[in-house]
Amino acid sequence: MGAVIDPVGPSALDPITVVGAGRVGRALGDNLAALGRRVRYAVRGDRVPPGATAVPVDGAARGAGLILLAVPFAAVGEVVPRLGLAPGQLVVDATNPFGVDTGGSPSGAAVVAAAAGDGVRVVKAFNVLGAEHMTHPALPDGHRPVLPVAGDDPAARGAVVELAAAMGFDAVDVGGLDAAALLEAAARYWGLLAFAGGRGREHVLVSHRRP
Ligand SMILES: NC(=O)c1ccc[n+]([C@@H]2O[C@H](COP(=O)([O-])OP(=O)(O)OC[C@H]3O[C@@H](n4cnc5c(N)ncnc54)[C@H](OP(=O)(O)O)[C@@H]3O)[C@@H](O)[C@H]2O)c1
Repeated sequence: MGAVIDPVGPSALDPITVVGAGRVGRALGDNLAALGRRVRYAVRGDRVPPGATAVPVDGAARGAGLILLAVPFAAVGEVVPRLGLAPGQLVVDATNPFGVDTGGSPSGAAVVAAAAGDGVRVVKAFNVLGAEHMTHPALPDGHRPVLPVAGDDPAARGAVVELAAAMGFDAVDVGGLDAAALLEAAARYWGLLAFAGGRGREHVLVSHRRP
């Protein structure tokens, strides 16, 4: 049985298993570790981040308060069922299904939820901006990158909003997981501005309110 996250709050989420130690996994893992969170990486092979704790992919969810999915979307179908997820556990899906067929599912997050199994709480977050904004999100002028968070379980969603805010993002609760398709499109929109629009990977979207 996985960690129970009701009542929720960032302190209830440790240890955090980051699945994938690539650009996104490392950047978010470094942010979380700097906050004092207990982070361990689920990796295949021997590419363990220096100084980090690593666990095998098989059974990596056991005992975790939060599982952060940061593998290529094409690997979701293979990796997620191997994690040993239990009902009640919280999976944060940071993947983007770029150029990969979601098999008729409305979003990549829906594919993750199906692979995770009944009762696992899937929250979409951290997917709308480049990895280079994930370790130290705040801009020099104090603005924070806007970070939408979607998931069907309000407590799980709220816990991720709270955690993302502590990590330095302008986290926004956008409701249920049916918003995930739009968040995945938002990642493409960030890329459109970065590449076709010439803003580069350094650009990030912030949300201002007109006074
Ligand atoms: N890069 C970005 O700016 C960005 C931003 C937002 C969201 N995303 C999304 O985040 C996810 C990760 O992107 P990334 O840029 O961090 O990718 P990446 O740098 O290529 O890292 C991918 C990680 O996943 C691992 N992995 C790949 N296939 C695996 C498998 N079958 N089993 C176990 N581990 C596996 C890799 O391990 P090995 O080293 O062993 O290959 C590596 O640690 C993707 O879904 C991407 O769309 C990326």
